[in-house]
Amino acid sequence: MIIGVPKEIKNNENRVAVTPSGVLELSKRGHQVYIQSTAGIGSGFTDKEYIHAGAGILDSMEDTYGIAEMIIKVKEPVEAEYNLCKKDQLVFTYFHLASHEPLTKAMMESKAICLAYETVEKPDKSLPLLVPMSEVAGRMSIQEGAKYLEKPLKGRGILLGGVPGVRPAKVMILGGGVVGTNAAKMAAGMGADVTIMDLNLPRLRYLDDVMPANVNTFASSEYNIKELISSHDLIIGAVLIPGAKAPHLIRRDMLKDMKPGTVLVDVAVDQGGCIETCKPTTHENPTFIIDDVVHYCVANMPGAVPYTSTLALTNATLPCAIQLADKGWKKACNENRELALGLNVINGEIVYEGVAEAFGLPFTPVENYLN
Ligand SMILES: NC(=O)c1ccc[n+]([C@@H]2O[C@H](COP(=O)([O-])OP(=O)(O)OC[C@H]3O[C@@H](n4cnc5c(N)ncnc54)[C@H](O)[C@@H]3O)[C@@H](O)[C@H]2O)c1
Repeated sequence: MIIGVPKEIKNNENRVAVTPSGVLELSKRGHQVYIQSTAGIGSGFTDKEYIHAGAGILDSMEDTYGIAEMIIKVKEPVEAEYNLCKKDQLVFTYFHLASHEPLTKAMMESKAICLAYETVEKPDKSLPLLVPMSEVAGRMSIQEGAKYLEKPLKGRGILLGGVPGVRPAKVMILGGGVVGTNAAKMAAGMGADVTIMDLNLPRLRYLDDVMPANVNTFASSEYNIKELISSHDLIIGAVLIPGAKAPHLIRRDMLKDMKPGTVLVDVAVDQGGCIETCKPTTHENPTFIIDDVVHYCVANMPGAVPYTSTLALTNATLPCAIQLADKGWKKACNENRELALGLNVINGEIVYEGVAEAFGLPFTPVENYLN
């Protein structure tokens, strides 16, 4: 199959969808991979490395889209790319169509086959192509939180791990899923006194079993959250209710109970945030202060570490890309129903119910296209 990897043109997006290692794997199987020139540079991969791994280099995104039977990307196509997607071309990327009507309509018009990373789903409802970014964001939340606790950055001026004779900082994590668990691991490793809160008791039991001694679990409730916020230095928002806006577990009136210089990192900001006063910020201007409490609410945290994020993402996407390239999308999706759940638009028809519902557009069951 002929595969095209365009350079990401969305603002501040430095990831790339295929690494030189991925090119080598695809090339070994007889596929021809074309990388748009400098597509990998933001993640530390040069054109030379891609050529060495077997890729062809193309100068423009028009050439890259023009030649490819399958496009592999990171972010959803932006307007300049809408007309480049073409009939029967497979486009494999994050789409988030349900929140973007113009993109959905453009993809329908293109008659391309749109397979979205974010809706590939395992039988246990986990989302294997989203997990790596939650792992990155969870680990980063502590790195960023520790930084903003420093006095010059308006934090309390407390060192996360303390020192001999001085108590460590207290870290409270709302949500013990992928983000929360990764955050807890980092905070515990740095010596902080960590509490993870969740509603899911089996999850708390599991975390209690596997986490080190400086991590405690606590059932999530308004009462328990109120009890802890006045004594904690760093609070991480990591809750998710699938398909819904995040609940506001920390309300504006609760900020006055926190110590001045407390840092809030609301990783769930992309789902509306679980801290009422959080609104999305950027890496250029990541924080703001309300009532002496520092808020960090960057909506695309993994974007700051493109090298790690690219490798983490492609570790998860490459096996899917190989199946799609080896078998074609129809056979690959017939044989792998987790992958089939990624199909969102085929030949102008919406085949993912949530997307059709979001815009009141007709829905065609994906089974019409599969055996
Ligand atoms: N800002 C970013 O750059 C970035 C990056 C990756 C993920 N995220 C977001 O982080 C959030 C968490 O993602 P995840 O992968 O960890 O999800 P997850 O499903 O693995 O975990 C969510 C956890 O929240 C718990 N929960 C639900 N309601 C709760 C409540 N009232 N109190 C306490 N816990 C509650 C659930 O039981 C679950 O364990 C999502 O909104 C995701 O989109 C943001």
